[in-house]
Amino acid sequence: MPKEALCLKVPKINGEKAVTTAHKLGLVNKELEVQRDNNYVYIPLAKSPLQNEAHALQKQAIKLEITTYTFPERKKHPKTPIEWLENKLPPSLLACVPRAMDIVGDIAIIEVPPELEAHKTEIGNAILQTHKNLRTVLAKVGAIKGEYRTRQYTIIAGVPKTETIHKEHGCQYYIDLAKVYFSPRLSHEHKRVASMIKEGETVIDMFAGVGPFSILIAQTHKRVKVYAIDVNPEAIILLQKNVRLNRVEGKVHPIQGDAKQIVKQKLRGVADRVIMNLPEKSIEFVGAACEVLKLEGGIIHFYGFTTVEEPLKKLEQRFRREVEKFDRSVTKILFLKTVRETAPYEWQAVIDAEIR
Ligand SMILES: C[S@@+](CC[C@H](N)C(=O)[O-])C[C@H]1O[C@@H](n2cnc3c(N)ncnc32)[C@H](O)[C@@H]1O
Repeated sequence: MPKEALCLKVPKINGEKAVTTAHKLGLVNKELEVQRDNNYVYIPLAKSPLQNEAHALQKQAIKLEITTYTFPERKKHPKTPIEWLENKLPPSLLACVPRAMDIVGDIAIIEVPPELEAHKTEIGNAILQTHKNLRTVLAKVGAIKGEYRTRQYTIIAGVPKTETIHKEHGCQYYIDLAKVYFSPRLSHEHKRVASMIKEGETVIDMFAGVGPFSILIAQTHKRVKVYAIDVNPEAIILLQKNVRLNRVEGKVHPIQGDAKQIVKQKLRGVADRVIMNLPEKSIEFVGAACEVLKLEGGIIHFYGFTTVEEPLKKLEQRFRREVEKFDRSVTKILFLKTVRETAPYEWQAVIDAEIR
């Protein structure tokens, strides 16, 4: 609907400068469209310019004239998926559209609630329309499960793919979400642990996935040796590619297999530090972690889940008891914290422990 509004009328020759200056001064009514004819530019104003503002404009635009003019309304470009869907979904459904999404490379991952199942393509398209850097939208199907900790997805919009390259802390990772585990929500943990490593250390990344701990450690340290183990052959193929992509050959050594067996076969007593990011099962590998540490001890970064029934303190006690079973002891808890919520009333937690 056209609207009559206060207008700054300037000769065309000064038009662009006047528009820029009026914007800088906060004078422009952004709901209305600037108009032009053969001789003048008409700028819709939100308020009359004060003396100093008029002076600033006069510096740019000779013969400035304040008048009224009829302007068309500016077309609004939706900035968020919710804005994009505003006139396409009834308000009751719009309220259920997921506000959060995970972004891995150029892929967005969302959780579509059952009531929006019939509209998932529209939601996917709304995400692509408002995030020009994304090419694919996936909807989660079920939970993360199985030995490889993977999840199924439905491709709901864009290029039909599950492979991408993800950037994190200056490193790049080939990831295939259908075949391997990866969570951008652990980005802070990857950085936190990498920043604790000292030059010269030997690190065992027991459940390495595509390498977000191992590769960052190698990229940010000159003299480190990282043994990166994973049982999932697809994760190891991607990890090997990521080692080359990030030029950390010779520092990160990918090994495919079960962490317990690999430790027994070839890595006993070599490590200064062990990373154990398999929260649902890490506790079963504490023996192997104790075995892989040097005789004098080292650091374990242990990930587990806490619940209302087993809060942080209890998880710590269980971890301590497990360490003691293997003739080692926890001499100091360096850090103990929940990292993120993983389900209602369930959190991923980390324990950094000094072991002797
Ligand atoms: C939660 S993911 C963590 C991946 C990676 N550390 C990260 O932060 O993205 C756990 C990984 O452990 C691997 N895994 C599961 N059981 C294993 C085992 N017995 N030995 C070695 N790796 C195992 C899975 O294949 C999966 O890639």
